[in-house]
Amino acid sequence: MKNICVVGVGYVGLVTGTCFADLGNRITGVDIVEERIANLNKGILPIYEPGLEEMVKRNVNAGRLKFTTSYAEGLKDADFVFIAVGTPEGVDGEADLQYVRQAAIATAEAMTKPLIVVNKSTVPVGTGDWVADIIRQSQPSPIPFSVVSCPEFLREGSAIVDFMNPHRTVLGSLEADAADKVAQLHLPLRAPIVVTDLRTAEMIKYASNAFLATKISFINEIANICEALGADVKEVAAGMGYDGRIGKQFLDAGLGYGGSCFPKDVKALAHMASVQGKHPQLLQAVMDINGDQRKLVVNKLRELLGELDDKVVGLLGLAFKPNTDDMRDAPSLEIARALQIAGARVKGYDPVAMTMAGRMLPNVQLVDDPYELAEGCDALVVITEWNEFKNLDMERIKASMRGSAVVDGRNLYDAAQMGQLGFRYRGIGRGYNGK
Ligand code: UDX
Repeated sequence: MKNICVVGVGYVGLVTGTCFADLGNRITGVDIVEERIANLNKGILPIYEPGLEEMVKRNVNAGRLKFTTSYAEGLKDADFVFIAVGTPEGVDGEADLQYVRQAAIATAEAMTKPLIVVNKSTVPVGTGDWVADIIRQSQPSPIPFSVVSCPEFLREGSAIVDFMNPHRTVLGSLEADAADKVAQLHLPLRAPIVVTDLRTAEMIKYASNAFLATKISFINEIANICEALGADVKEVAAGMGYDGRIGKQFLDAGLGYGGSCFPKDVKALAHMASVQGKHPQLLQAVMDINGDQRKLVVNKLRELLGELDDKVVGLLGLAFKPNTDDMRDAPSLEIARALQIAGARVKGYDPVAMTMAGRMLPNVQLVDDPYELAEGCDALVVITEWNEFKNLDMERIKASMRGSAVVDGRNLYDAAQMGQLGFRYRGIGRGYNGK
């Protein structure tokens, strides 16, 4: 059992701290947002993540997990401090490290005994050295510490599963004994542990996300070619996936990737390359393809509806992916804006992200279920592949709509079946023009 302080109780820090508590450690979550800490101490979570609310409550009740705004309290007995604060996209795509800096300074000022500082946030290559310098410069008097990079590989919507069943744990440090101590924390997960230097560990994170994003843009480019040549990209992906070197996952063509990681991390990696005089042509192409995917929806709607002026379009799903309320860089944001600029009236529904949507989609009429969404619509667009959209009563949907157009942005439906139901259907890469 170890004492761990986790700084930043957001998407990554809250899951990391709660899961380490569930493994028997004593965790103190620290955050500078007082309301977030006050809510957590009342059992109200700042994020939606399946299974997390129950796990937080269980570990708080067991006395293994608590929350505070005080670094002094958080670090008092800590053997480790995990820095899990946000690293949002900054100018030119460079990661904004202001919160990491604040956390490093506050840690240096509050620590009272030797500490292992673990960088959990996704940070540019070289940040580990930078954090060490900040701590050294900020300590009122020298206290020994080590820095270890331990990047997260959590997918929103399955973060607890991903934490408890990692493909691997990656650790980077210039001090083997520090890396070993962090490795010990992860032994109960019974997964491979890669131990390397700081910069290599930081690069493994970026390269992993950039590769996954590349797979997505690759299959989306293939989808666009399939529409010209009459092939079905879903079948293409299935046929490809049997090859172990390719793999079945991350070959779902659609509206492209969003969220708080892929867009930011690919841009940050390209920026790191560019400032070193390298030319990240492939990363740039990945970003360009991804940006174009959202534009497909308006083009397909124009094909189906003609001019979009005064048309009513319903967006099925608003979150950037299923099983989350996160709408950061969600395709719904850009698509809603483009439709409104084209003169359409936009309605929206999401099973979970409605509060977030109210803040981020002010001019979209938000409704309470898919059938209310369909009422009076000339077209429906599948934006997020929520399970509940997979078995809708399509006859009821059709009867509620004013028109019959469906743009299936995540290839949920069978084109032939939709045609038989009287819909004018367009998927992504589903044969000629997506029909
Ligand atoms: C991702 C990485 O998977 C995770 O390892 C890393 O730690 C954080 O970033 P996340 O962004 O939460 O996780 O979700 P993920 O399931 O990876 O989806 C990312 C985006 O890609 C979503 O917008 C999703 O809709 C899209 N996607 C995913 C596709 O368009 N096609 C696919 O086949 C898979």
